[in-house]
Amino acid sequence: MTTTTAVPAVAHTREELKAAREALPSRDVAVVMTMGALHDGHAQLIRAARQRHEHVVVTIFLNPLQFGPKEDLSRYPRTFDDDMAICTQAGVDVVFAPTPDVVYPDGDPGVRVSAGPLGAMLEGASRPGHFDGVLTVVGKLLHLTAARSAYFGQKDAQQLLLIRRMVRDLDFPVEVVSVPTVREDDGLAMSSRNTYLTDSDREVALCLSRALRAGGEAASYGPSAVRRAAREVLVDEPLALVDYLVLVHPLTLADVPEWYRGEALLAVAARIGTTRLIDNTPLVVGPGGGAIDVFSDVPHARAEV
Ligand code: PAF
Repeated sequence: MTTTTAVPAVAHTREELKAAREALPSRDVAVVMTMGALHDGHAQLIRAARQRHEHVVVTIFLNPLQFGPKEDLSRYPRTFDDDMAICTQAGVDVVFAPTPDVVYPDGDPGVRVSAGPLGAMLEGASRPGHFDGVLTVVGKLLHLTAARSAYFGQKDAQQLLLIRRMVRDLDFPVEVVSVPTVREDDGLAMSSRNTYLTDSDREVALCLSRALRAGGEAASYGPSAVRRAAREVLVDEPLALVDYLVLVHPLTLADVPEWYRGEALLAVAARIGTTRLIDNTPLVVGPGGGAIDVFSDVPHARAEV
């Protein structure tokens, strides 16, 4: 494995990406897709990818297709110079930073990947069309980067599930690797959207990770104990406007019934001030259960890199 702190090659066009990729000594390339505003969660994805691959390509593309008309596309943080510093530090080989006309040369694509029923649940219920936009751009970026593996964070659990489904259902020749959520010392899950939070919003936002922790601690007592423990934390914080708090099967996203024992996803979404945040924890429900980093039946990279 090559270790380098050289500044990554930057490609803005398809041709530049192709040339940068062809200049790499090996075809063993992993991709980390981002919308910019990189933080330590992204750095962790890059480090995990570097551990197993010769080269890492990072894409920085604020994908308009996955934002609804009233969402935060226009105010989404744009921090390219800082992003480059993180990519350099983390040993990225190539940064692909296209504009929308490079990714969508004919304008909004008439043909898109459909996320299907799983894409209409949870986040998809609040953000119609969001996952079609995500899958469409992920599919395109997989083709353009021709990566062998793609690394995604467990933080966006539904996105990760849908990307796995797309890769499997549509036979994309790529391995999808999940990396556990990276948290601040106080438990807040790292997210580019955390920059929107005021100091007091940030205090309120801690109730999300507290609720997930409480749910995890109740896991050995069964699903309703998990839901109750998490809900009790959230009702204590009226400034967190909860969109959903669910305990669901990790593959179907259906609520797990009371008799269920095994791996489940405890997920929450809430609006805090003007910011909508999501968080989740994978856990095992049943005797001896509790929170886990990532689900057991999928290949994953661990965070200790
Ligand atoms: O998770 C994200 O940042 C985005 O949804 C992704 C995967 C880069 C697609 O635009």
